[in-house]
Amino acid sequence: MKIDGKAYRTIWPSADGRAVEVIDQTRLPHRFEVLTLHDVEDAARAIERMVVRGAPLIGATAAYGMALAMRADASDAALAAAYERLFGTRPTAVNLRWALDDLRALLRPLPVAARADAAWRRAGEIADEDVEVCRRIGEHGLAVFREVFERKGQGPLRVLTHCNAGWLATVDWGTALAPIYMAHDAGLSVEVWVDETRPRNQGAALTAWELGRHGVPHRVIADNVGGHLMQHGLVDLCIVGTDRTTAQGDVCNKIGTYLKALAAKANGVPFYVALPHTTIDWTVRDGVREIPIEERDAREVTHIQGLDAAGEVVEVRLTPEGSDAANYAFDVTPANLVTGLITDRGVCSASAEGLGTLFPDRAVAS
Ligand code: MRU
Repeated sequence: MKIDGKAYRTIWPSADGRAVEVIDQTRLPHRFEVLTLHDVEDAARAIERMVVRGAPLIGATAAYGMALAMRADASDAALAAAYERLFGTRPTAVNLRWALDDLRALLRPLPVAARADAAWRRAGEIADEDVEVCRRIGEHGLAVFREVFERKGQGPLRVLTHCNAGWLATVDWGTALAPIYMAHDAGLSVEVWVDETRPRNQGAALTAWELGRHGVPHRVIADNVGGHLMQHGLVDLCIVGTDRTTAQGDVCNKIGTYLKALAAKANGVPFYVALPHTTIDWTVRDGVREIPIEERDAREVTHIQGLDAAGEVVEVRLTPEGSDAANYAFDVTPANLVTGLITDRGVCSASAEGLGTLFPDRAVAS
C-alpha cells in the first residue's frame, strides 16, 4: 500500500541483504519510523514488543528472523536455538509456528554452508506469498461485499471491524481490510466503523491510520459502541481477522471480538472472518478449551500512549495507583456465531464441513 505516494510493505530486506527493515508499529499513528533488525534477537524482540504484530506479519518476521540467525551461524545448534527463541515470542498467532516449521524443514537437511542463502530466499517467498494470499482474500471478500450491497439496495455499505487486520498486520493488503480496500477502489461506497480496540488500541492507532492514508471513509468508535449501532441498523456487516482458526471453524482473535459476534448474531448482522490458510490450526478443534490465551503486561491496561500538546508521544496513567489490572489479549468466537470464513481459497461456512470443501486434503470429521 502507499504512504504519501510511495509503495511500502511492512517488512523488506535491507539494500545490502544483511538485515531486515520493518515499520515500527509502536510509533504509529503519530510517527512513521522504520526500524532495522540485524539479528535473530532483534527479530524476536520486535515480535514481543509488537513493533510488528498481526498473525501473518508475525509469521513473515519469524521467517526473516531464522534467515538472520543463519547468516550469523548456520549450525544445527544455532538453528534449534533460533527456532526456540522465535517460537516463544507470542503464543497465539499460529502463523508463527507455521513459518518456523517451514524454515526448519527446509534447512535441516541442507549442508550448513547452504543454509543462510536458502533461508533468506524462503523468507522472501513467504513474504511474497502472503501478499498474494491477502490479495485473493480481498477478491473473495469483495464478492461478499457486493452481495450484501445488492441486498441492501443502496449505499453506503457500513462495515464494522475490530483490531487491525489491515496491511500493517500482514505483508501487504491485509485480511479483513483487503476487501474494504478493493471495494473502495472499485467505487463501492464503503464506510468503516473502527473499534478502538483497547488496551493496545490497534483500531484507533493502526486501522484508522491506514484507512485514512488510503482515503477510505471511517469513524473510530469506543469498543462498547458496536452493539448500539447494530441495534439501530447502522452496521451492514462485521469483518475481522483471526490469529488462529480451528479445524471446526472457531476463531481466536483480539479480545472483544467475541462480544461483537454476539451482538451481530442478536441483531441479524452478518459476521465474517477473513483469514489466510496459514492461520488455520488443523491440530485444534475446540478453540475455547484448547487455545492458550496470551496474557500481557497489566501496564497496557493501566497506562495509555498519546500525543501531548507539544507534539511529543507520551504515556500517562489511567487507573488509580494500587489498582491491579488483568490483560487478556485474545478471545475465542465459537463457529456458530460466524456467518462465513473468507479465505484465499474462497468463502466457506465456519465448520469442519465448510473448511473441508476448500481444503479437502486437510479435512477433519465434524
Ligand atoms: O495482538 P495483535 O495486534 O498481534 O493482534 C492482531 C489481531 O488480533 C488481528 O486482528 C489478527 O492478527 C488478524 S491479522 C490479519
